[in-house]
Amino acid sequence: MVSTTTGKIAEFRRLLSRAHSVLVLTGAGISAESGVPTFRGAAGVWRQFRATDLATPSAFARSPSLVWEFYHYPHVALAEAEKRFEKEGKRFNVITQNVDGLHRRAGTQNLIEMHGNLFMVRRTSCEFIEENNGSPICEAFANRRSADENSPEIDEKDLPHCRKCKSLLRPHIVWFGEHIWNDVTEKVEKEIQLCDLFLVVGTSSVVYPAAGYASILAERNIPIAEINIETTPSTSIATYHFHGPAAQLIPQLLSVNIV
Ligand code: APR
Repeated sequence: MVSTTTGKIAEFRRLLSRAHSVLVLTGAGISAESGVPTFRGAAGVWRQFRATDLATPSAFARSPSLVWEFYHYPHVALAEAEKRFEKEGKRFNVITQNVDGLHRRAGTQNLIEMHGNLFMVRRTSCEFIEENNGSPICEAFANRRSADENSPEIDEKDLPHCRKCKSLLRPHIVWFGEHIWNDVTEKVEKEIQLCDLFLVVGTSSVVYPAAGYASILAERNIPIAEINIETTPSTSIATYHFHGPAAQLIPQLLSVNIV
């Protein structure tokens, strides 16, 4: 349920139209199942389509791109807003803590995936990074069940290896106990410096360093809009707390595909 007043949305849109460098921080909430528009009621209409008509095999056969886009709705809305901002000569950047690759797939160009990406692999020998959409990523995983505790360990030679240099591959993800890569930290710092409007979407704001960005910006009096179905530690310092699902609020706030 969205409990946001129309007046606040209009106020936010005025700020947005005056902003020159918008920065959006996203977390797991933007990809949550609940972020997909509801299937019934007013929120169940996307563009001119009913959600119940899109979530069907025949809709997918007719227009796979449309159906994919429907499931990427909040991500696509951000990608469309970026295009519009760029046309106006303004900056629009997304920093995500998510590793699901959905912003990239939706077409966001100015993207910092601060915790990495599930579909990227890295060589353990030389740190070379490349895309890998293989599923399963290698033959040895084909018949494995994750719940089976008694599965024997897979021999290292059967794990994913680089086809060129043969070194073992690892997911390009920042694991617990590892530091965020220096080049990523530098890019984030630059965006924080330039930002004049900050959106915090679908993150619990408890995991650092991302959880600290709102307070850095609040100290500089940069307006902050939080979009979440709950309150978080960022709520008290945010200029606006838009309470509701990202899939509904992002397009509404950014004036993208409003039905
Ligand atoms: N719309 C908006 N917000 C939502 C929605 C939705 N549809 N569904 C859930 N949320 C909100 C929840 O209320 C919660 O505040 O998304 C947030 C998800 O919080 P977390 O699960 O803690 O995810 P996140 O903040 O991205 O986690 C940060 O922690 O575990 C590490 O590295 C991992 O990147 C992750 C980091």
